[in-house]
Amino acid sequence: MGDHFFSAEPQSADVRRTVEAQIWGRSYVFTTATGVFSRDRLDIGTSVLLRSVEPPSAAGTFLDLGTGYGPIACALATEVPEATVWAVDVNTRALELTVENAKAAGVSDRVRAVLPDDVPEDVLFDEIWSNPAIHIGKPELHKMLLRWLERLAPGGTARFVVGKNLGGDSLQRWMTEQGYPCERTGSAKGFRVLRARRD
Ligand SMILES: C[S@@+](CC[C@H](N)C(=O)[O-])C[C@H]1O[C@@H](n2cnc3c(N)ncnc32)[C@H](O)[C@@H]1O
Repeated sequence: MGDHFFSAEPQSADVRRTVEAQIWGRSYVFTTATGVFSRDRLDIGTSVLLRSVEPPSAAGTFLDLGTGYGPIACALATEVPEATVWAVDVNTRALELTVENAKAAGVSDRVRAVLPDDVPEDVLFDEIWSNPAIHIGKPELHKMLLRWLERLAPGGTARFVVGKNLGGDSLQRWMTEQGYPCERTGSAKGFRVLRARRD
């Protein structure tokens, strides 16, 4: 299999570059690399999510599921000074970049960039934010989402951005059927922004 951004350990040369982004009115310069999702710019889906949803208003424990080089995790930690953000990915190069980017943003003390199995079992999340890895296929996607939705704290919310043509609407129905009432809170540039709740 070729070396895709979702490889656990990309074999391609680790060629770095920088990406400038504006998130919630602040400027960031992120380091990205070959073998990592959307290395040339802030992904359009991610940008739609961050433009359509305000940052959390209260501190808490957040999860950025599928963090990539960490733009969502870094922005959450920057906007919410008391928050702890778990930045989870299966791609080790992505996790290295997230550590670097969190340092550059001055939030490395509160961004924990780890593999999924390295999140301690007793951690619950007040909020989950994700531009999820749709390409892993529906069975894996559903398994991944259920694994983390089950760890939403009571009253917690999960925010997702999913391409309409990648099944955004059916994913919304599926989450509701699984017991996480899910509504569409935004739609732009072919993406659906979804909010699921744990009652
Ligand atoms: C669509 S990308 C989003 C990356 C980043 N959040 C962004 O906005 O640029 C999805 C990410 O999920 C990661 N991923 C794939 N399978 C995963 C899994 N089972 N658990 C956690 N992350 C996974 C991929 O490596 C990829 O970095």
